[in-house]
Amino acid sequence: MKFSQSNIKKAKKYLDKNYCIAVPTETVYGLAANAYSNSAIKKIFNLKKRPKNIPLIVHYQDLESLKKDCLINSSFIKLYKKFSPGPITYILRLKKNSKISEYVTNKKKKLAVRFPEHKMFKELLRQLDYPLAAPSANITTKVSAVKATDVKEEFGNKIKYILDGGRCAIGIESTIIDLTGKPSILRLGGLDISKIQKILRSKIYISINPKKKVAPGQSLLHYSPGIPLKMNAVKAKNNEAFILIKKKKPKLKNYFYLSTKNDLNEAAKNLYSCLRKIKNIGYKSIVVEKISNKGLGKAINDRLNRASKY
Ligand code: TXA
Ligand code: MG
Repeated sequence: MKFSQSNIKKAKKYLDKNYCIAVPTETVYGLAANAYSNSAIKKIFNLKKRPKNIPLIVHYQDLESLKKDCLINSSFIKLYKKFSPGPITYILRLKKNSKISEYVTNKKKKLAVRFPEHKMFKELLRQLDYPLAAPSANITTKVSAVKATDVKEEFGNKIKYILDGGRCAIGIESTIIDLTGKPSILRLGGLDISKIQKILRSKIYISINPKKKVAPGQSLLHYSPGIPLKMNAVKAKNNEAFILIKKKKPKLKNYFYLSTKNDLNEAAKNLYSCLRKIKNIGYKSIVVEKISNKGLGKAINDRLNRASKY
């Protein structure tokens, strides 16, 4: 998709009027609105059918704008310098005089923040004088959107505008790290946690317990394609969709490749489209070949595991 200034202008026009629109990011599409406006944020929760106690991620263009709302610390600076803009979200403490709508955090004093890398989203943020709260652009518990047409499929005409930025380069949500105490990972995602570990030079905690209510996006029902899914399969029945990570011969009609060469980055990029496609064709169940738990494989397995709890 070509970079388009006029589309960015259109997006700004809607946002300035406190409407919600869909925006492209390098991870997944977001459902964005002015993070300083109560009325705009309420629209996000309504559209997404999101429980009010699940807080939103706020997207900033740079450090200067973030500092108006949040307190920063040395771990944050180290990670920010290395990985932002990019697929990492930080949980920081809100400043007392922050202008963030209380609906964003459900009145809590911690805020999830991210610096997106997608060119069009970055340019949009540069033209706004407020940051954008944006959860993934899908109905709660459903599969995230990685193309403008996916967003359309989720929301139909209920949203005013979709800023089409093409297909998401990473295809899986950001990694979330809580930096308000000892660094701890709340969600596996587009940035491999071994890279984070190298920068912080200490073991980081992983607390992705899906039973905890406030844990990020992590009720077990998340990422559901709406049909049963089974992991670590070696074969599939004819009427089941078989998701594969490497080439298998002969190629059958019910085979769907995340990658043909066991490339985990490629697999992450294709994951949500693949689930969506299988559902739309009308399959009633899915089995998935074993995917190694390395690099982005960890995040893929996390999503599949949750999807399998349908
Ligand atoms: O890649 C992404 O992170 C995408 C793009 C659009 O930026 N956004 C995204 O947002 O995945 P969402 O809302 O679908 O998932 C964010 C998760 C939520 O499940 C929420 O529980 C968690 O982040 N979260 C947000 N604020 C939090 C906070 N203050 N403390 C703990 N978890 C938080
Ligand atoms: Mg989400």
